Amino acid sequence: MLPDLLSRFPPTGHLARDVDTLLAAHGRERIREHVPRVAGEARRLATRFGVDPNRAEVAALLHDVGGIFERGEMVDLCLGLGLGVLPEERQVPLLLHARLSEVLARELYGVTDAGVLQAIRFHTTLHGAPTPLDEVVFLADKLEWDGGGTPPYHAALSRALEGGLEAGTRWMLGWMATPEARLLLPHPDLKAAWAQYGIAHP
Ligand SMILES: [Fe+2]
Ligand SMILES: [Fe+2]
Repeated sequence: MLPDLLSRFPPTGHLARDVDTLLAAHGRERIREHVPRVAGEARRLATRFGVDPNRAEVAALLHDVGGIFERGEMVDLCLGLGLGVLPEERQVPLLLHARLSEVLARELYGVTDAGVLQAIRFHTTLHGAPTPLDEVVFLADKLEWDGGGTPPYHAALSRALEGGLEAGTRWMLGWMATPEARLLLPHPDLKAAWAQYGIAHP
């Protein structure tokens, strides 16, 4: 899979364009429209909260590239790459898109910054020990979601962010524990994030 992608989509050094080309070639129009919005929001949040905006932008540009794969092949792809697959991820394979994004960031686009790779990996769920960069990418993905239109929580999350990055993260994690979030199941990393922030959850 990786040699094939490397030969068909060799990086040109212009990351935003390369990601757009890759997504377009795989017919991922929704992600293609979503990614530049997340990248812009990640830059804004990073600048506002003292995080390196360039690292935030790189993570945001790459956070959903794993979405080029079909959800039906994600489990086998991860196993083939030697990545462990949790029972929750077998049940909801789409959760694995973030792991695959991390692999592509490293192997296709040559990202070596461990903090950027971590922010990509945990952009959906966060985890038990998030860095400010993780939180910026997580929240940018939620503010500029791919669900169409404005997310129902946008105004409340924006208000919470007036209290700082951590307050915004806590608010978002809290919302994700409500029925309105309609989670198919909570990933163990999300449970760890809830525990870290002291959020009661289902
Ligand atoms: Fe995602
Ligand atoms: Fe996303």
